[in-house]
Amino acid sequence: MRQKICDLKDLAELSCREFRVKNDVLTQDAFLIYFKQHYYAYENSCPHTGVTLNWQKEQFFSLDGFFLQCSLHGALFKPDSGECVSGPCQGQCLQPISLFIEDDAVYTFE
Ligand code: FES
Repeated sequence: MRQKICDLKDLAELSCREFRVKNDVLTQDAFLIYFKQHYYAYENSCPHTGVTLNWQKEQFFSLDGFFLQCSLHGALFKPDSGECVSGPCQGQCLQPISLFIEDDAVYTFE
């Protein structure tokens, strides 16, 4: 079953949308980003300790806009792959979430 996250027109470059995904076992916090004209989504869980990454609602990018940043210890993640390139979990990755685009909106699967 599909789950709509947002309309494409509502997601500007470097903006984010938080949402929740369900699997067989649990419901997980997640977020969608629009970066260099591509959409990516990840579980909102830092590989270092499992805390949510964002420091404010829908704020995931570092100040320079080049990385996603964990608010607790500052780990930096590549937006297009989720790979941590700096910080205590360097080399680990955010868990990606599958997306698809239909009818000018971004969806994921429930
Ligand atoms: S909890 Fe994210 S870098 Fe430590």
